[in-house]
Amino acid sequence: MATPSGWRREGNLPAELTSFVGRTRLLANLKRHLAESRLVTVTGIGGVGKSRTVLRLAHQVRTQYPDG
Ligand SMILES: Nc1ncnc2c1ncn2[C@@H]1O[C@H](COP(=O)(O)OP(=O)(O)OP(=O)(O)O)[C@@H](O)[C@H]1O
Ligand SMILES: [Mg+2]
Repeated sequence: MATPSGWRREGNLPAELTSFVGRTRLLANLKRHLAESRLVTVTGIGGVGKSRTVLRLAHQVRTQYPDG
C-alpha cells in the first residue's frame, strides 16, 4: 500500500539524540493541557528547553494522534 512520503511506523518526529532529563511535572501539565485544548503555547527564555520538552511530549502522546 502506498504511504505518504516521510511516513514511518514510529512516526515522523525528529529522533531524540540525547537523553532527556527531568521536567516530569511540566510534561504532566502539558499533557493535561493538550487533552483539553487544540493549541498549547509554551513560552520561556531562549535555550531554557521549550523545543526539547515539547518534542519529548510529542513522542509520549504520538500514538493518541494516529493521523499525525
Ligand atoms: N530536559 C532536558 N534534558 C536534556 N537536554 C535538554 C533538556 N532541555 C533542554 N535540553 C537541551 O538544551 C538545549 C536547549 O534546549 P532547547 O533547544 O529545547 O531550548 P529552547 O527553549 O527551545 O531554545 P530557543 O528559545 O532558542 O528555541 C538543547 O541542546 C536541548 O537538547
Ligand atoms: Mg526552541
